[in-house]
Amino acid sequence: MAISNVPHVSRTTAFLDAKHMVQNPVEVFERYRASLGPTFTFHFGGAKRAVVSTEPEFLQHVLKTHHGNYVKSHIQTKHMVEFQGVGLVNSHGEEWLRRRKLVARGFTPSRMASMLPLQIEVLDGLMARFEADAAAGPVDVYEHMVRFTLGMVGRSIFGRAATDAELQQIADAISEIQAYIVEMIVQPYLIPWFRITGKARRYQRIRREADAVVLRHIEARRATSSVGYDFLKLLLEEPFHDTQSPMEEGQALVEALQLMVAGNETSSIAATWLLYLLAIHPEHAARIQAEVDAHVGQGPITAASLKELEHTVRCLHEALRLYPPFWMIDRIALQDDEAAGVKIPKGAMVIPYIYGTHRNTALWDDPERFDPDRFLKPAVQARHPFAHVPFGGGPRLCVGNSMAISQITLIVATLLRRYDLRYERDEPVRTRPMMLLRPDGDVPVRFVPRA
Ligand code: HEM
Repeated sequence: MAISNVPHVSRTTAFLDAKHMVQNPVEVFERYRASLGPTFTFHFGGAKRAVVSTEPEFLQHVLKTHHGNYVKSHIQTKHMVEFQGVGLVNSHGEEWLRRRKLVARGFTPSRMASMLPLQIEVLDGLMARFEADAAAGPVDVYEHMVRFTLGMVGRSIFGRAATDAELQQIADAISEIQAYIVEMIVQPYLIPWFRITGKARRYQRIRREADAVVLRHIEARRATSSVGYDFLKLLLEEPFHDTQSPMEEGQALVEALQLMVAGNETSSIAATWLLYLLAIHPEHAARIQAEVDAHVGQGPITAASLKELEHTVRCLHEALRLYPPFWMIDRIALQDDEAAGVKIPKGAMVIPYIYGTHRNTALWDDPERFDPDRFLKPAVQARHPFAHVPFGGGPRLCVGNSMAISQITLIVATLLRRYDLRYERDEPVRTRPMMLLRPDGDVPVRFVPRA
């Protein structure tokens, strides 16, 4: 079976674009989308033919209605397994389902509400350095959001006892290993060389050192029963629905680290893009300040008051539309299939291209414009459910989406009730997509205390 009815990027064009593709794949995909339309095919890495689509019917088919025919590609499984073991993020079938059911219990509204005091405590602690930096001049929002989410996501997972140095060591290990995985994906022919030169062993050592940090916390939990709630507690104590027994320690270690990989950098990138957009759209920052003043005031922030911040959440959804941290999702077809009229042969790579979907003019009016009112209820109801998919969709929808939304809302409410924002540069911030859609360089914003 061959892919049909879809425009194709020729091998020559793909070859000529190879360098640009490594530097900024989104720019290249956007060029193809502009010339070829919402769905096209190309040879990924010069080898496998891939279908790239921005049509919501296609995304819904692959991610939801026929999800059983699509598995995560080797990018997410084979290379990750080598460093992270098998956990929720990179398992399939029954094994995935039992993990998903267990981990999802950690994200119920009541569990999220019980984690809020810890989040607020961590954020208050981080604000001291932020305030000092903001008083001295413009700050790099990205640098501070990396600090904020490392503390907040890190302690939600590993608990209050995790020190800044330990969290930093885990985050550094994750980013070094991810950079190495990207190298293996882009230059697979060098993998034997990495083994011979000892490069692979170096990254295994980094991983073992990060594992040791988490294992120390697991052992400490075994020795004393902890008070309060965090993910390590859930992973060590909550029983699987089928066996009624909890995870073994090695498995809890893998799941805790996978939550950190999935939840930390995604959140810092999303918070950064949102604050940048608010800095260049002061009218929306003012609307957020008005609702924060009305519902939160200067008192303590509660789960109930966060729920009232509807415009803040609309701004976050619009930021996630323009700058989705996961700019694409990749899958492999297990059997021949047809999705929204496109014939997909067994073994083909399929790419729900989130960034392009969020800018597809058939779905979004004037897509480059920042307009949070697109997320008013009637507009959302009128749109295809797979037009806005920053958290993916179907059964593998991001399990942490409610935590990400409440954490970022908390950060924005905390900052905007104290400050007005001024973007400090003439040129817009450019994107630097790697695995995630990072900003290219710093994001300088002046935080001016509100009158
Ligand atoms: C703005 C922040 C976030 C974004 C944009 C985001 C996005 C996504 C996306 C697109 C997927 C689906 C990937 C796929 O189908 O291949 C996903 C899965 C996942 N996310 Fe998130 N995520 C965010 C925050 C979080 C947080 C805070 C956590 C937890 C602490 C988390 C944990 C996970 C896990 C465990 C999965 C795998 C779920 C499964 O396969 O069943 N994410 N995320």
